[in-house]
This record gives sequence, structure tokens and C-alpha cells, in this order.
Amino acid sequence: MTTGTTWQEANTNGAYQQALERIAQGVSAERHEIGLVLSPETAGDEFGLLEAAHNARLGNMGRQVHVRGIIEFSNYCRQDCLYCGLRRSNAKLRRYRMSPEQIVEAAAFALEFHGFGTIVLQSGEDPGYPADAIAYVVKAIRQLGPAVTLSVGQRPYEDYELWRKAGADRFLLKFETSDPNLFKELNPSTTLDERLQCLMNLRKLGYQIGTGIILGLPGQTRQMIICDLLLLKELDPEMVSVGPFIPHPGTPLGKAGATAKRDPARLIRATLRAVALSRLMVPLAHIPATTALGVIGKGSRDWVEWAGDYILKVLGDKGGSGWRASAGDWSDPRALALVCGANVIMPDVTPKVFRDSYEIYPGKAGSDGEELSGTIKSIRTMVQNLGMSIASGRGDSPKPQFTAKRCPAESRSGITGEGFGAGKEV
Ligand code: 5AD
Repeated sequence: MTTGTTWQEANTNGAYQQALERIAQGVSAERHEIGLVLSPETAGDEFGLLEAAHNARLGNMGRQVHVRGIIEFSNYCRQDCLYCGLRRSNAKLRRYRMSPEQIVEAAAFALEFHGFGTIVLQSGEDPGYPADAIAYVVKAIRQLGPAVTLSVGQRPYEDYELWRKAGADRFLLKFETSDPNLFKELNPSTTLDERLQCLMNLRKLGYQIGTGIILGLPGQTRQMIICDLLLLKELDPEMVSVGPFIPHPGTPLGKAGATAKRDPARLIRATLRAVALSRLMVPLAHIPATTALGVIGKGSRDWVEWAGDYILKVLGDKGGSGWRASAGDWSDPRALALVCGANVIMPDVTPKVFRDSYEIYPGKAGSDGEELSGTIKSIRTMVQNLGMSIASGRGDSPKPQFTAKRCPAESRSGITGEGFGAGKEV
């Protein structure tokens, strides 16, 4: 090491940095380059990737964090995905279905606590929920002010059309894995083609679409993850979500053996790297710090020391010592995702009586008795500790077709991002 060079700078690899720069600048994203960047061999390279993603987030999306309230309104599901606790074969789950009035009431209640710019309505694929009931809910919530994002799975084109006409703005539908065979194995009741067709239909209808993957699925290879990232780039969705796989004991993938070799700290880091690459490859996407990331962080402290080193690099002394000094405030890896390219957080605002039954995976953050006011307060603290602020407004995609007509004040004001979305803090 030469004098004046930090260990992190010295501890890097030329080929890695070159591939990273090419991807970050949008010059190219060849399979071998993505593969190289996805698997850094040194901490210096790994931090370089995460920091490049953080800078891309600041440049394209600004320093603000969008807080979306999510209401999980039904846990009935016709699908039978091997990883998900809501799968129809899970007979142990207490099923619930909120009435349209209960959903609107829950949204109004959440909006009293916080000026959410977006309410996300999520459910299992519940055939018992008629399309016009969902349309009613969308319309009623839109009248309260926020944008509405739907996340209710695969439905006919006509349903998507009805909801769009009722005012739905966005739709989340993760493709989970881009490998058609793995997809079929894990989602026996549908196909990757059917899911992608739904995304195409949503796009055609003018929705802002969100999609993404589960990282660490049994049977998922590095090559598949490279393909996932390439598919994300090709789809260029307005929202991208990358969450770690969490085994659910009531599912085939949650049984002993499938989970024996899991190392939460490794999975957290792998997830952050995939989040970072998503930011570099889909620079204008809104990317959440996923709930699932918060959940695996609770089960392990092994990642905290490593995270402190990264925070020190990216936020300087203040952030670094804050990380170490106040483990309570920093104990959630979602905070880390927010300096690795993510810019959205989605607290669960489902009424408490139902919340525990929406068990996609065990241990969901916010399902352990936390009240809404406490949840909002801890998000605010997390965001402040990162030197960021909470965005006001709907938080639409910065792509011109989604901002131009709707709300000029929210459109991008420059490519540096510093002036972008500089609304008042809520
Ligand atoms: N671990 C992590 N994420 C999961 N999801 C479903 N089951 C799991 C699990 N066991 C994710 C899927 C789905 C979203 C609502 O939850 O990506 O799209």
C-alpha cells in the first residue's frame, strides 16, 4: 500500500472497477460484467459497488425517501407457491378478507397519522374479491388524496383495465425469478410467461409497473440472478423490488434441510449488492428497502460491524459513529439499503387484528405489536440519521410520461437530483 491510500482504495481490483464503471455509466451490461460486479472479492470492491449505487440514487432520485403505507387486505390465495405462507395448501393459516369499507377506513386512519403520498393495496390472489369491489376501494382512496398502487397478482386484462379507470396508478407484480424452469417448480399454479404477460398488459394500460425478484431461493444460481438483472433492465420498470428469501415453516421450502445452511449476514450482503446493481441498471426506478430485509436483519447481528465500515465510508464520521453508538436506531438493515440505492420504505398499515395473519414469511417487521405511530416515528429517525428527509407528494416515477401532466412541481428539475422533489418534509 502506498502512503496516502486507504486500505479500501488499495484493496480493489482493476477489472472489477472497470466493469462497475461501465455498468454505472450505462455503457454496457454484459453477462460477464454483471457476474463480476455481483461477486466482489474484496471489501473495497463491494463498498465501491454499493457507493456507486448510492450516488446513482442521489443523482437520479434525490436524497428523499418515499414512505408508502401498505394495507394487506386479504390473505386468501389461489396460487400455491412453494415459498409463500399464503399458498392455498397452507391449511394452518387463519384466512381473512377485509371488506371494501374496512379497507377505505384503514387508509383514512393511516392518512391521519402520516401524509402518505401513496397507499399500496396488497393481497393474495383472492378470486373471492370481485373486480368491482377493488375498483370501489381504489376510487374511494384516491378521493382521500394519495396515489394508489395495487399488488393483487395475476388477473384478466379487463380487471386491470377497470381498476386503471377507477384511478389506480401503479401495480406491483414480481416475476420472482427469470428462469422459467425454476419459476414453474416454485410456482406450480402459473407460469413465468403468464406473469410477464400480465406485466405487459399493465404497462399497456398506462400503469407505473413494479417488478423484481426473491434472492436466495433454493435452486437459484448466480447465472439466474444475472439473467434476472438483465430482464429487469429490459423491462425498465418504474419500481424494482429485491427481497431476500425467508423460509416459512408452513411451506415445502420451510421444512428442515432447505434452511440448514443459511447465513443471514451473507444473504443481507448479497441482497444489498443486488439492490445496488438494480439501481445501476434501472436508474430511474423507485426501489424499496424491503420488509423482508428488515426481518432477516433481526435474526443476526453479524452484519452490523461490516455495515458500520460502509456507513463510515459513505456518510463519513458522523454516520459511522452514529451507527456504532446507537445500535437501537441502526439495528435495521433497511437503513443500510437506503444508502445502497434504495429510496422507498413501505410500512405496514394493516389494522392490527389482521396484520399477524398476513404471514408471507414469519417475523414480519411491524407485525410484532408495533403501533402505527411508533412505526412512523422509527422510520423518521432512521431517515434523519441517514441525513435524508421524507418526501412529500405522490412519489410518481420521474419518467416524463408519468409526471408531466399530473404535477409539474414533482417532476425532475435537473439531472443532479439536488433540486429534485425538494418538497416540504412531512
Ligand atoms: N420470502 C421472501 N419473500 C417472499 N415473498 C413471498 N414469499 C416469500 C418468502 N418466503 C414475496 C414475493 C411476493 C411478495 C408479495 O412477497 O416476492 O411477490
